[in-house]
Amino acid sequence: MKNKLFAIMFGAVLVLGACGGGNKTNENNNNANTDTGGSTASVDAEQVVNTSCITCHGQNLEGAGNAPALADVGARLSEEEIHDVIINGRPGMPGGLIKGEEAEAVAKWLAEKK
Ligand code: HEC
Repeated sequence: MKNKLFAIMFGAVLVLGACGGGNKTNENNNNANTDTGGSTASVDAEQVVNTSCITCHGQNLEGAGNAPALADVGARLSEEEIHDVIINGRPGMPGGLIKGEEAEAVAKWLAEKK
């Protein structure tokens, strides 16, 4: 009985560890959040943006410096175009800050902002 429980817990640790492995080093904040075990299945896009994007785009996505506002970006760009910017970057914006599921969730979330 005890052994079985241990095996289950060990398995859970392995799964969590594997999911965290894809993150880039500058996303340590994100890793800390996923340690609670909640956010692997569905990405919290707002949380991701707060971690990775607001340093340039402004705390309320109002834009800052030469980074344009994202608060209404859905009116200018489609979900696909936003995804493309996130993956490939723009002059002044590094690409690949977030990837995969996170990039998709954030593109979708931003595309609805208009
Ligand atoms: C290092 C600063 C920086 C960070 C971090 C950053 N951006 Fe940007 N972003 C920029 C700049 C500068 C531009 C304008 C590029 C241009 O002139 O085309 C931009 C443009 C964009 C655009 C195009 C907006 C438009 O109206 O054309 C989108 C969408 C975008 N960023 C999304 C994001 C998302 C999502 C993140 C977080 C994953 C992020 N950015 C993080 C600097 C940044």
